[in-house]
Amino acid sequence: MSVVASSPAAGRRPAPRSRLQRFLTSSIGLKLIMAFSGVFLSLFALGHMLGNLQAYQGAEALDAYGALLHKEPALLWGVRLGLLGLVGMHIFAYLALTRRNNTARPKGYRQRKWRESSYASRSMTLTGPLLLAFIVYHILHLTTGTVHPDYEEGAVYHNLVTGLGGVNGLIYIAAMAMLAFHLWHGVWSMMLTLGLPEGRYGSLGRTVATIFTILVTVGFATVPLAVLTGVLHL
Ligand code: HEM
Repeated sequence: MSVVASSPAAGRRPAPRSRLQRFLTSSIGLKLIMAFSGVFLSLFALGHMLGNLQAYQGAEALDAYGALLHKEPALLWGVRLGLLGLVGMHIFAYLALTRRNNTARPKGYRQRKWRESSYASRSMTLTGPLLLAFIVYHILHLTTGTVHPDYEEGAVYHNLVTGLGGVNGLIYIAAMAMLAFHLWHGVWSMMLTLGLPEGRYGSLGRTVATIFTILVTVGFATVPLAVLTGVLHL
């Protein structure tokens, strides 16, 4: 939009933006921020899922694994802050891209290509905030114990088994279904942003996204399922 001629700012040029500023606010820059933060968040999810599988080795193994993660507070807080930063970048890039797309779209534009955007893609707007809400709940539940009625400091296995029975277990399984939608579309879009070629009838990106999503979400979901069915018990 042009500056109104009579305003005090008339004639004054906006301060030149650095190359970095221009890159970070361009569509490709924002997509790369989403992809970069998405790669690390997906790797965190994979690592966390593999760590959770220690539950099948018994209470001692899972508690020892938990103790190992908490051994170096500086490292633990470094990772926590890093994760928070990545989540912040991911949300910032999403909001900025959405704003850009909405401003770029001419008024009255109604021809959204629903066929080309999958159901998962359209549901990102829903699964993103819901996942965020789940993660907040999850931390208050299994990390701080704030909403866990039987929480014991350092007893990860005990907290897991007493915390994932009944409705809670079902909430976790539903959240993993949501994560599946989000990861599947997210990993696939990430592959496209990073330049993986897209074939007409399927693509390597889609295959990688499908395998990765099934691995992570099914791996996660087996834990509440095992608690609900009594496979994991005190
Ligand atoms: C069925 C699924 C899941 C189970 C059973 C589970 C289990 C756990 C447990 C037991 C802890 C506490 C670890 C400890 O205190 O040592 C934890 C922490 C955490 N989980 Fe999960 N988790 C699940 C899914 C997820 C997902 C999908 C995410 C996000 C992508 C996630 C992110 C976190 C985070 C950020 C922490 C806090 C780590 C910290 O700062 O100490 N979890 N989870």
